[in-house]
Amino acid sequence: MSEHNLAIVILAAGQGTRMKSATPKVLHRLGGRTLLGHVLRTAESIGADLVRVVVRHEREQVAASLEDYPGALAVDQDEIPGTGRAAQVGLLALPSDFDGDVLVLSGDVPLIEVDTFQAMLDEHRSRAAHATLLGAHLEDPRGYGRIIRGGDGTVERIVEQKDATAEEAAVTEINPGVYVFRAPALRSALEQVGTDNAQGEMYLTDVVGILRRDGGTIAGVTAPDAAAALGVNDRVQLAEAARILNQRVVRRWQLGGASIQDPATTWIDDTATLAQDVTVLPNTHILGATSVAAGATIGPDTSLVDTEVGENAVVRRSDATLAVIGANASVGPWAYLRAGAELADGAKAGTFVEIKNSSVGAGSKVPHLSYVGDAEIGEGVNLGAGAITANYDDVAKHRTVVEDHVHTGSHTVMIAPVTLGAGAKTGAGAVIRKDVPAGALAMSVAPQRNLPGWVEKHRAGTKAADAAAEAQGSERQADGE
Ligand code: UD1
Ligand code: CA
Repeated sequence: MSEHNLAIVILAAGQGTRMKSATPKVLHRLGGRTLLGHVLRTAESIGADLVRVVVRHEREQVAASLEDYPGALAVDQDEIPGTGRAAQVGLLALPSDFDGDVLVLSGDVPLIEVDTFQAMLDEHRSRAAHATLLGAHLEDPRGYGRIIRGGDGTVERIVEQKDATAEEAAVTEINPGVYVFRAPALRSALEQVGTDNAQGEMYLTDVVGILRRDGGTIAGVTAPDAAAALGVNDRVQLAEAARILNQRVVRRWQLGGASIQDPATTWIDDTATLAQDVTVLPNTHILGATSVAAGATIGPDTSLVDTEVGENAVVRRSDATLAVIGANASVGPWAYLRAGAELADGAKAGTFVEIKNSSVGAGSKVPHLSYVGDAEIGEGVNLGAGAITANYDDVAKHRTVVEDHVHTGSHTVMIAPVTLGAGAKTGAGAVIRKDVPAGALAMSVAPQRNLPGWVEKHRAGTKAADAAAEAQGSERQADGE
């Protein structure tokens, strides 16, 4: 939907002192996006033509974060503090003849959904209101502005926690900090807002009382889900908001056909996607732009960041970032896939295996205790336990190429740059410094020498020497000596 007579002003200039952070509050993250990112995404789906974001604290960082939202323009708040001044500055950045509705959103209120805003806009228009508030009933309303209603039940004004009398503070209907105003009404009311209050700031909330006093109509919509009204001012609220969002996201994928065994210990970013018949086991994080295809099983105890998982793949107790896990591939337990690890169809990265910037061909296996970096592994390869690509010579990284159907013996070290030709094999413990031709067996370990009696001679009196003597005695007996 595109709304021609609607503008959106997002307040994001505050410092967020209570976060106690070097990062501006609205850039703290939950569910894979910043607080402000969630608000911008909702704003985007409302489809307003004009979106203004009011910035001041760490303005460069906050303004830079708008890049992903081409329609949103940053507007600078001046030294006059308060949400009222922020709204005024945002309003001044709209075309001067704009006389439609203004939806004012707070950059620190990330969970309100687009349907709620649509309900507010519908109510605002059908009542021809000057202002429309959202109300939410909270058992513990501390910290929020309270909506004060008259004897007839209509909204009279909003009072901030810090300015509230005991009687006002006992009201449990709070202001979540999102509003629809008629632009001309907001413009003239803001001119009357002062700073004579506990915080010495221009309060946007004062506009409500001013409009009402001037005979304006104040409409209200009740939030369908009071938890969505949560404002994030400190890290306790940030964690709480993240939990609520996660519940929503988990539920969305469950209803979409994913089995999620333990929602409480499963964290799925709002930015990730799960196909039907995915199974997610406990203690699993599916983050960033991760996508999981149909039939795959993820977890338990697994973290995936910006990773693509193919159909029917299995990823157990593992960690992957910027990796591609092909269909039917098997990862873990205890594998670590770093940026650029790409497993083709049916490939395996097994136990205590680290892979980075490497492709592993279809059906190839790296089953145990290995490091594979900057390598190209063909199809049907088996790297024996303990395979290491020595990709770094202290100066530069080099590539290892392992062609189709190579099998390496246990504990093979491949000193890059090096190529193992198709079908080649290596002996156990081989250190491969030169290319291995296709079909060759490469061995680099000196032939084994046994020195008989060494232990009894040099370690006399130890348990090893006793055991050796006993074993040799029974051997002699068996030989009939
Ligand atoms: C505000 C409301 C309160 C409401 C609560 C809901 C006011 C006076 N109070 O209080 O009624 O219950 O939100 O969460 O509006 N901001 C600016 N410029 C400023 C100050 C703030 O842009 O000068 C921005 C902040 O970045 C933030 C938003 O406005 O995104 C709200 O500011 P905050 O200081 O958190 O207000 P609250 O005390 O939470
Ligand atoms: Ca707030």
